[in-house]
This record gives sequence, C-alpha cells and structure tokens, in this order.
Amino acid sequence: MAGKGLVYKNIFLYRLLMNLLYAGNYTNRFTSILAALKNKGVSSVVELCFGDVIIAEYCKTNHIQWQGFDLNDSFVKYARNKGYAAELADVVKKEDFPAADIYIIAGSLYHFTRPELKQLLTKILLQTNLLIISEPVKNISSNKGLVGDLARRLSRTSKNEVSFRYTHESLSGALEDLKTDLDFNFKTIGYIKKDLVILIEKNGRA
Ligand SMILES: C[S@@+](CC[C@H](N)C(=O)[O-])C[C@H]1O[C@@H](n2cnc3c(N)ncnc32)[C@H](O)[C@@H]1O
Repeated sequence: MAGKGLVYKNIFLYRLLMNLLYAGNYTNRFTSILAALKNKGVSSVVELCFGDVIIAEYCKTNHIQWQGFDLNDSFVKYARNKGYAAELADVVKKEDFPAADIYIIAGSLYHFTRPELKQLLTKILLQTNLLIISEPVKNISSNKGLVGDLARRLSRTSKNEVSFRYTHESLSGALEDLKTDLDFNFKTIGYIKKDLVILIEKNGRA
C-alpha cells in the first residue's frame, strides 16, 4: 500500500485522528454493530477493511470466531501481533471470501466505486445471509475549508484516492438500486454520531 496517508501507517495515529473526527466518541460508533452481533447470536464474523481491532476484541471476549481483511500492511501486522486472524488483502480483487454468520464493513464504503460496491456485495452475499454496513454520512472530511482539508489529507489511503463521501440519501439510494438484483432487504439499525448503521439480510430476512 504505497503512498498511504500518515495515519494509515500507525494505528495509534489512526485512533487519534478518529477520536478527533468523532469528537472523542470513536469507539462508541461500534455500539450498534456490537449490539447486532449479540442480538443475532452469531458465532463467526468476517470484517472487511477492519483497520482497528475493536470488533475483533469483542469477538474474542465473546468466543466468536473473527477473521479480518485489510490492504494496509501496518494494520494487518498490528492485528496479527495481537493474535487475530487478520489477512492482507484487497477486497476488490479478492475472490475467495470465507463463509461466516455475518460480515461487517465499517467506515470504508467510500473507497469503492458503484460497480465495485455491487461486485463486493455480490461476493459477500454468496458467503453470508447478514451484512452490517456502518458508514459515515456526515463527514467533516467532506467539509470545505482547513479542517476538512486536513481530515482528507490525513485519512486518505493512497495519493490517488478520490475524495468522495456518502450522505444518508446517497447510501440508501445505492442500496435501493442494488437490492432487487442482489436479492436482499436492508434496514437502519443505528445512527451513531456520523455513522449510519445498516443491516442487510439476504432473501428478505431483514
Ligand atoms: C477509514 S478506515 C476504517 C477502518 C475501520 N473499519 C473503522 O471503521 O474504523 C478504512 C479502511 O479500509 C481499508 N481499505 C481501503 N480500501 C481497501 C481495499 N480495497 N481492500 C481492503 N481494505 C481496504 C483501509 O486500509 C482502512 O483500514
């Protein structure tokens, strides 16, 4: 992952930026995700673009099998050193996703183009009935001005990254467009700080 932004080289700098962006509530934004894992009584989780190990830690404590994929070697190394089943992978290119009770993708959909999103959801729904998406929809990095510019520069994963963020409407709209083709339903299960948290369930089970 050449040319990655500063915070993507170090998990502690990443947490610092996230706490800045979420006004000290970085870990709270996982509340809806963890509640859904508990409610659904899942025993295996795959987390795409995991970045940090907050969900992995919850899974370990609750005897849930966790597997994570990320293309950032620093984050993968950190997770592996902590004993988690983290794997270096570009989820756009990776074909062989593992089966799991539930998939999670948090704070990361904005990295993918619309065709990539469709391909990704297709691959995920071949391996699970449940997917949680947590995506920032009010983001200071989409603000104009100095603060937004700083957030954009620090958080980009590569020098060529295009600046793009979802709004509540554009994310719901993207999923509405895909749900018939990919045969899923979705509902909002949380709205925590800047993040819209959505549960997708295959074959109308949401
Ligand atoms: C903003 S961070 C979100 C991390 C974490 N899920 C969270 O919610 O705090 C985005 C993550 O997506 C990862 N990522 C971006 N594009 C990816 C790709 N194509 N394949 C795998 N990981 C990717 C980055 O390395 C980074 O860890």
